[in-house]
Amino acid sequence: MKFFIDTANIEQIKTAAAWGVLDGVTTNPSLVAKEQGDYVQLLKEIVQIVDGSISAEVVAEDIDGMIEEAKFLASLHENIVIKVPFTPDGLKVTKILSDEGIGVNETLIFSPLQALMAAKAGAKFVSPFVGRLDDISHQGMELVGEIVTIFDNYAFETEVLVASVRHPLHVLEAALMGADVATIPFAVLEKMFKHPLTDIGIKRFLDDWKKAGKKM
Ligand code: G3P
Repeated sequence: MKFFIDTANIEQIKTAAAWGVLDGVTTNPSLVAKEQGDYVQLLKEIVQIVDGSISAEVVAEDIDGMIEEAKFLASLHENIVIKVPFTPDGLKVTKILSDEGIGVNETLIFSPLQALMAAKAGAKFVSPFVGRLDDISHQGMELVGEIVTIFDNYAFETEVLVASVRHPLHVLEAALMGADVATIPFAVLEKMFKHPLTDIGIKRFLDDWKKAGKKM
């Protein structure tokens, strides 16, 4: 299972990369809006930090505009994958870009049939937004399970990228379901470290060592 980090914050990306668990990065217009500097500069820094898939999102809403932005973003680095929103025009753009060999991350997926359509159009990734479904009292992870089943049934190569992750249980359930990727906010990655028995265990080892007066 791949771990991407869901942020455009350079320090967070550097920290997570140093932990050795990072396979990629996803950004979106809201995440970029929180950071200083322009998008292109941020992307150029990110591709130097992480040698993996880096998702960059288009903001144009028309087909020509989306394609122009996508081609520009993809030209920045071979690892850049283009996030395209799931709309009828977005789907056309997905087909065009995929046919040209540009990887597409179909974003804002909220139903299994949207995911199926995106896969048929050639998307490299589909991004079901589980947290936003939970927010409206739907079971976000059920959507992931359905998409994994559909893609397995027909051997689609499109990867299921679990997005809008809000807590470690989303990551655990994604792993148990066989999702290909989870894109995880930095705060959730930090929580995944924590277990009180680990902290207690470290303290007990060190206390015993000191009490016995041992030296390395
Ligand atoms: O990157 C897309 C997605 O992960 C956004 O998450 O928390 O804004 O619903 P959120």
